[in-house]
Amino acid sequence: MSQRVSRRNFLRTTFGSALGAAFAPSVAAGTRVVSRSGAAGPIAISSGNGLRATTRAVQLMRDGTDVLVSAVSGVNIIEADPEDMTVGYGGLPNEEGIVELDASVMHGPTHRAGAVAGIREIMHPATVALRVMESTDHVMLVGEGAQRFAVAHGFPRENLLTEKARKVWIRWKESRSDRDDWISPEESGFAPLIEKGGTVHCSALDASGDLGGVTTTSGLAFKIPGRVGDSPIVGAGMFVDNEVGSAGATGRGESVILTAGSASIVAAMRRGLEPLEACLEVLRRIARSTRSKHLLEKPGRPNFNVTFYALRKDGQYGSASMLPGKQFAVSDASGNRLEDCPSLFE
Ligand code: GLY
Repeated sequence: MSQRVSRRNFLRTTFGSALGAAFAPSVAAGTRVVSRSGAAGPIAISSGNGLRATTRAVQLMRDGTDVLVSAVSGVNIIEADPEDMTVGYGGLPNEEGIVELDASVMHGPTHRAGAVAGIREIMHPATVALRVMESTDHVMLVGEGAQRFAVAHGFPRENLLTEKARKVWIRWKESRSDRDDWISPEESGFAPLIEKGGTVHCSALDASGDLGGVTTTSGLAFKIPGRVGDSPIVGAGMFVDNEVGSAGATGRGESVILTAGSASIVAAMRRGLEPLEACLEVLRRIARSTRSKHLLEKPGRPNFNVTFYALRKDGQYGSASMLPGKQFAVSDASGNRLEDCPSLFE
C-alpha cells in the first residue's frame, strides 16, 4: 500500500478527525502535578518568547482550524518579528553573516512530519516544513534544495539579516581574537551582551484531542555554516505522538540531539510520567551524559541551558530547564500567560 497520503485524505483527517478526547493515560503514583489545564484543548504551550504564538494558535483552534496549522500560524508571528534574534527574520547569522534557518513540524492525527534545515532567505521555515509534510513523500529538505522548494511554492526570497543582527555579528567578529586586524569591542567601547541560544517551540492540543508541534529557529548564533541543530530533527527539537502528547526543546541543540530529547519526553509520558517529570528526566540524562570540560561548570553540572516543553493528550502540561530563570507560555481556557519553568539546577 502506498505510504503517500493524498492531500484530500490529509485535509479530511485534519479537519474531520474522529479521534475523541477520551484518552486517559496512566499516571505513575507519586508523580508531581505542577500544572493542569482546567480543561483539555484547545491549549497551546510555547517557549517564553511564544506567548503571541500560543494566543493565536488557541484562537485558530477555537475557530476550527487544524491543530498543526494553528501552531504554525502562531510561530509565524515570532518568525516575522525582527526583535526576536533567535528565530526567522532578525535571527543572528552564522559566522559568515548569513542567516540560516531550521524548522520542523509534526501532525498527530496523520503521524506525518516535515522539516527544513539550513534554509536561507526564506522568512517562514515552519510553513515550508508544513509544505514538505503536505506535498511531498519526504520528511526533511536542506540548504539549497529546501530554498528551491520554498520558492517553487511561492515563498519570496528576502534578506533576513536586520541592521541590528548585522551589528551584533560584526561586534562578535571584532571580539574573537587579538591576533587579527579586527579591533575588539572593548577597545572600541562597545561590548553587547547577547544570549546565543533561542528558538521558539509550540505544542498544541485541540478540542478533539488531536496534537501538533512545531519548532523554528535561526539556530546557534555565529555557527559554522551548515551547522544543523535539534530544531529540524524530528524526535530531537520536537515530537508528537497523537496517542500520548507533544514535546519540544529550546537551548543547546547538540545536547538535545544526543538524547533524542523530545521523543524521549513523549516516551516517558507514555510510560506514565507527568509532563514536568518527563522533562526533568531527560534534563537529568543530559546532565549525566555531558562529559566535555568546556560544557561543564563542575562535574555533573552543565554550563548551558536546555528547556523542554511537554503537553499531554489530556491537557496536562509542563516545562523545565537545566538552569533557572526561564519561563514558558500557556494559552488555554484560563487565558494567556507566562509560567515559571522549574530548573534542574539552582
Ligand atoms: N535549539 C536550537 C539550536 O540549537 O539550534
